[in-house]
Amino acid sequence: MTFNTELKYAQQLDSEDKLKNFRNEFYLKEDSIYMDGNSLGLLSKRAEQSTLALLESWKEHTIDGWTDGEHPWFFLSETLGGSMATLIGGKKEEVIVTGSTTVNLHHLVSSFYQPEGKRTKILADTLNFPSDIYALKAQLKLKGYDDSHLIQVESKDGHLLDEEDIIKAMTEDVALIVLPSVLYRSGQILDMEKLTSAAHERGIKIGFDLCHSIGALPHDLHEWGVDFAFWCTYKHLNGGPGSVGALFLHEKHFGVEPGLAGWFSSNKEEQFDMEHTLTHAGDAGAFQIGTPHVLSAAPLLGALELFNEAGIKSVREKSLQLTDYMMNLIKHELSEFDFEIRNPIDPKQRGGHVYLEHAEAARICKALKMHGVIPDFRMPSGIRLAPVALYNSFEDVYHCVQVLKTIMENKEYEQFENERNIVS
Ligand SMILES: Cc1ncc(COP(=O)(O)O)c(C=O)c1O
Repeated sequence: MTFNTELKYAQQLDSEDKLKNFRNEFYLKEDSIYMDGNSLGLLSKRAEQSTLALLESWKEHTIDGWTDGEHPWFFLSETLGGSMATLIGGKKEEVIVTGSTTVNLHHLVSSFYQPEGKRTKILADTLNFPSDIYALKAQLKLKGYDDSHLIQVESKDGHLLDEEDIIKAMTEDVALIVLPSVLYRSGQILDMEKLTSAAHERGIKIGFDLCHSIGALPHDLHEWGVDFAFWCTYKHLNGGPGSVGALFLHEKHFGVEPGLAGWFSSNKEEQFDMEHTLTHAGDAGAFQIGTPHVLSAAPLLGALELFNEAGIKSVREKSLQLTDYMMNLIKHELSEFDFEIRNPIDPKQRGGHVYLEHAEAARICKALKMHGVIPDFRMPSGIRLAPVALYNSFEDVYHCVQVLKTIMENKEYEQFENERNIVS
């Protein structure tokens, strides 16, 4: 069957979908279509079970839960890191579940940003998420430099970055590069392999923020030689609000001193010797700081099982089909309503969501919510729609675009203010 705008076509795609049964693993709300899994993933039954199991282990084992029970808390960060390793193409010891995106960025930069001679600058971009930029500026300040030491590569159109522009900015005064793997607005995938080898040819270390690629597409960080990476687990990984973040430290850097050391940076065998000289874990585990947030990591035990069963390649395949189908529907059904598709069309560059721009975006999002369709508004005029492979269907995409069409035809958005809500 070739593309057409009828519901039958979506239903046909759903019937052929190898991952369709995973939808039953999630709590989806009736009469609602969730398109915001790139902000906060949905709760799965497995994540619920693993969280309850950890609460039970607290009840049952009390203090001994650190070493007893099915998932001893003392090793939980390592266990979870190990099960996440395939998602980023890393070795088990290269990944640890700890902290949060921003804290992990601070930690990694505090270790990897070592200004020396004329190499004193950090290279980033103008489209990255604000928290990363705040952290980089704060790290510069801690080392005695002002914001002029942060070079931010410009975008030509305000949506996409050109890798060649980034490479040109890798000059002799750059000590460290931090970039997103996928841009949070336009969903553009940066070519991490190419950027890493260009950085290394120039003697510069490079790290990536994987918040918008983890759980949405495969990575090969070890093979590419990426120095470090960090990410959250509450978007595509479905770890729940504020679930514990994670980081990757390439094996070649094992032994590097953790900049924000704490007792959980320790080699596990020696941690309880209570010495005042730290013997750190040596691998990614050294980048933990204090006591792990066990209950905020608990949902990941269940959530990650689903990825290991589905396989990240199949997730990516379906995700591309979903976004392709959505873009086709938008082009055919919404052509008269001034939407601009701002995400890359090329599957090599397209992340896990569709990004639309419209002058009335804020109030269109409010009208979508009124109809039970949950989008994500980004200032000043962006609408992100993320059909997620594990729980969204092609029929969801069909209905989402139909609702959008009704809202536009009947100008239903006019009943709302064109302003963002406190969280959007
Ligand atoms: C790309 C990106 N980087 C960093 C962050 C900040 O993450 P956290 O609040 O978990 O530190 C976010 C949050 O959504 C993000 O999307």
